[in-house]
Amino acid sequence: MTGKDYKAGCPPSENDFVHDNGPAANTADEDTVNPWNVSTTSAKGVDYDKLIVRFGSNKIDKELVDRIECVSGQKPHHFLRRGIFFSHRDMHQVLDAYEKQKSFYLYTGRGPSSEAMHVGHLIPFIFTKWLQDVFDIPLVIQMTDDEKYLWKDLTLEDCHRFAVENAKDIIACGFDVNKTFIFSDLDYMGSSLEFYRNVVKIQKHVTFNQVKGIFGFTDSDCIGKISFPAIQAAPSFSSSFPQIFRGRKDVQCLIPCAIDQDPYFRMTRDVAPRIGHLKPALLHSTFFPALQGAQTKMSASEPNSSIFLTDTPKQVKNKVNKYAFSGGKDTVEEHRKYGGNPDVDVSFMYLTFFLEDDEKLEKIRQDYASGNLLTGELKKILIETLQPMIAEHQEKRKKVTDETVKQFMTPRPLKFNF
Ligand code: TYM
Repeated sequence: MTGKDYKAGCPPSENDFVHDNGPAANTADEDTVNPWNVSTTSAKGVDYDKLIVRFGSNKIDKELVDRIECVSGQKPHHFLRRGIFFSHRDMHQVLDAYEKQKSFYLYTGRGPSSEAMHVGHLIPFIFTKWLQDVFDIPLVIQMTDDEKYLWKDLTLEDCHRFAVENAKDIIACGFDVNKTFIFSDLDYMGSSLEFYRNVVKIQKHVTFNQVKGIFGFTDSDCIGKISFPAIQAAPSFSSSFPQIFRGRKDVQCLIPCAIDQDPYFRMTRDVAPRIGHLKPALLHSTFFPALQGAQTKMSASEPNSSIFLTDTPKQVKNKVNKYAFSGGKDTVEEHRKYGGNPDVDVSFMYLTFFLEDDEKLEKIRQDYASGNLLTGELKKILIETLQPMIAEHQEKRKKVTDETVKQFMTPRPLKFNF
């Protein structure tokens, strides 16, 4: 709170810790949303309005979307127009400063737990790319290979290799090498004095009790997990990247991510002023649902719940036809008579993420709800939307060479003058 360091041997007391979040643990009737688990009993998915209240964040309302349009001079991305990015912290502050010519930077990340990413993982990266283009600002992307080593039954070598492989998928989203730094924790932590110093400062100012409260760690979790949140917090501070910000501590950070990552950044925002840093701002997205239904998010650890960026057109078709939960009626007759329910239909939900044409999407919604469009026909539209999108991603990824990855992952100045 004071921004001063604590004396050695005098850790912060619980009373000193100011939370800008709601309670971490959820009660029986609440949805579960944390970095390791997303689940709800509702076929419509997580109740995001309730989550905003519980997490103490703010809704991205029409006024904010209009303001982003006004400040950036660009039509808002359909993720904003459709409420896919639905919650924020301090976005108005970022825009206020930007209007006064004070720039900011973007920070996002990926936990490389396997070679293949799924289409849900693209959501924050597609949106981050849009933000980078419209605001023309630096971007840092953290690959938490250390996190995946600590949490999963994987070797350090595998995690590092997955970080490099996943970086290729991220680069294929179209990021500009002159504006983007991608780093593996296993590489960067050891090579950057400033990054590690920030990690240690954070570690000193957060107690075991606090991370237990936020993340639910127990006495039997390894100590690597307990201290890891400090490593995900550190890139929120510009001084962690002296090569980009030339030692400046006061460049505001904006983090686009799905809302499962928010616990890390509630902790970061609590600790930031106590160690003399700015609180990062956030933009939160909803979850891209599992094929089986919006009760859970698409997750790489459940292969049948996911469409991977490596899937062939045939695999995409088979998975959608076999697994995508349908809001249609049991028989064609009933469907024609009563219509389908787009609010629980996974194929329709996926189209809201990836079909850019607003009018076409609305027509599909109406036709499905009225019974004009059958489930099989809706699935066909989805398959025909996903197949070329994934094939195009695969083409772009093929062109990302090891040399390109090396360029992105080398600590260096970017094209900005700070
Ligand atoms: P990870 O690898 O689990 O997820 C990477 C990013 O994708 C988002 N995400 C999803 N978004 C929409 N629908 C889904 N089904 C879905 N699944 C995952 C995540 O919210 C995340 O934005 N610990 C992090 C890595 C990390 C990070 C960060 C993420 C380090 N620093 C800063 C965001 C911002 C992780 O394991 O993400």
